[in-house]
Amino acid sequence: MSQLYPVPDHIKSKAKIDNDGYKKLYQQSIDDPEGFWSEHGKRITWFTPYNKVKNTTFEPGKVSIKWYEDGTLNACYNCVDRHLADKADKTAIIWEGDDPSVDKHITYRELHKEVSRFANGLKKLGIGKGDRVAIYMPMVPEAAYAMLACARIGAVHSVIFGGFSPNAIADRINDCQAKAIITADEGRRGGSTIGLKANVDKALSDGACPSLEHSIVCRVTEGNVDWTEGRDVWWHELIGDVSDECQAEVMSAEDPLFILYTSGSTGKPKGVVHTTGGYMVYASMTHEYVFDYHDDDVYWCAADVGWITGHSYIVYGPLANGATTLMFEGVPTYPGVGRIGEIVDKHKVNILYTAPTAIRALMAKGDEAAKTSTRESLRILGSVGEPINPEAWEWYHRAIGNGKCPIMDTWWQTENGGILITPLPGATDLKPGSATRPFFGIQPALVDSEGNVQEGEAEGGLVINDSWPGQMRTLWGDHERFEQTYFSTFKNRYFSGDGARRDADGYYWITGRMDDVLNVSGHRLGTAEIESALVAHKSVAEAAVVGYPHDLKGQGIYVYITPVEGVEVTEELTKEVRNWVRSELSPIATPDLIHWTTGLPKTRSGKIMRRILRKIAANEYENLGDTSTLADPSVVDSLIENRMNK
Ligand code: WTA
Repeated sequence: MSQLYPVPDHIKSKAKIDNDGYKKLYQQSIDDPEGFWSEHGKRITWFTPYNKVKNTTFEPGKVSIKWYEDGTLNACYNCVDRHLADKADKTAIIWEGDDPSVDKHITYRELHKEVSRFANGLKKLGIGKGDRVAIYMPMVPEAAYAMLACARIGAVHSVIFGGFSPNAIADRINDCQAKAIITADEGRRGGSTIGLKANVDKALSDGACPSLEHSIVCRVTEGNVDWTEGRDVWWHELIGDVSDECQAEVMSAEDPLFILYTSGSTGKPKGVVHTTGGYMVYASMTHEYVFDYHDDDVYWCAADVGWITGHSYIVYGPLANGATTLMFEGVPTYPGVGRIGEIVDKHKVNILYTAPTAIRALMAKGDEAAKTSTRESLRILGSVGEPINPEAWEWYHRAIGNGKCPIMDTWWQTENGGILITPLPGATDLKPGSATRPFFGIQPALVDSEGNVQEGEAEGGLVINDSWPGQMRTLWGDHERFEQTYFSTFKNRYFSGDGARRDADGYYWITGRMDDVLNVSGHRLGTAEIESALVAHKSVAEAAVVGYPHDLKGQGIYVYITPVEGVEVTEELTKEVRNWVRSELSPIATPDLIHWTTGLPKTRSGKIMRRILRKIAANEYENLGDTSTLADPSVVDSLIENRMNK
């Protein structure tokens, strides 16, 4: 039985919702979704109010998700313009540089000007409603300006995480047929620089991205860059002569706001499509209630804008709520492990939302991370991206939160738009390691492999029975794959791909992915993507990638490779293959362990038995299961014998 952390009094007295309030509102949201979301949709400013609220079906072959479909609005208007009347001089963004001596406060008035000017710059290039624009930026305010400027003119942005390599950039540009990319000369992280424009140049070389017409370059480090006349344009030159005013485009609730690529268990990354109305309602509402956000709070989500967490909880959610949102350029361990706390003290941060991987990295240094700061301003903590182990939870609570800040362990996915399962600060007694209870309107269920719903205390596949406004609408250009991926395993339900357990109190405990998706330091990676990068190497004949438990990263990447015949396996080659994956895909996909083998366990029909590979990688040799169907069972013994040391 894990320890229970009741809602502290100082949180209860300030919180917007207590436990009775949660239960009442939750019940209402399930009994009458239409009425509930009709009411809460009003938190967003609409140009034309909606009359229709929910029009959704998960029915096989007909999956269709529409919310507020006859309303019109603009996401940027909601994040910027509507605050000008009463919050023009309030800080919208606090930007904290990689270098601790550099920071910047941007008011809502300034945000309005910067975004409008850049939106006018985009228009000058002929970019407009419905065009796709890729964004490959470091964590600088211009990344948020770029997203908001796209939203303002109705262009659909697709942010590509700054850690991705040229091939990954090109794949994403081509999949959504982006007309422009917005990038920077270089980015800064942990005291070093990353050549972002150089990566874009490589992605675009040899006519690899025919749809792309413009590359807009923001000057961040003033590092040297190559230049392609006609294609490349400096951000500051583009906006040199434009007006400060730019009318926000009238968008329909179901017009796409952005595409964000994420990894699945098979094939290329999937272009998750989020639309405007429902997403804004859900992002802003979850931001307010999950973090018990109050008007005077300083709020910091330490994610990267390249991931969904950055979209919903650095940019759209907090700005829609008129919040002060902190954006951090660097990493938690630079210049020292005390950095997070130092930033909290410097900017008097009240709400801190980060990932277990960052927490574990700091925890590994004892209490060093807490020594250079008091963190007295903190009230609420959050965690996202992977299961948080109870030890890390306890440490976060004690060492970072001084034992007084409740931790919101938020479970959700790129596909969900916003948080689905989470505690609420004033309502939920906490159990370390549990994401606890569903947010309003969310109906989770656990199913067995046949799709039978399990009642009471149970474990199973985590599905959601009905739609919520922030849910993705489709995969870009592939609605069939959308249905196939999320709605075909369990009919009439959305399948998350995660497994979970529900305890006697109805609390959910996420057990992790049930498919071939890895979660490495909170980064989501498909084994298929890593395998396809591996087999593109001339010495690799065949590759199979699995995850294994890793103390710091949550999951590590374990790679089995069969070399091309005649190739001599050397340490040099292993190093080369490791670097190959880094440059083909991303440094975040770097293999931790490479296991060369003369054969992989396959069925007689040639299918690789990943179950066995996962067990060997995890050092679990008992219960290997039935190996009698293998074409050559002796392969398994040899793999076990040569298991790479941790
Ligand atoms: C995992 C990130 C346990 C999960 C917002 C999910 C979590 C995947 C949690 C989505 C949590 C996210 N506890 N696991 N609190 N939050 N996950 O799309 O496996 O990058 O399916 O979205 O991360 O990752 P994604």
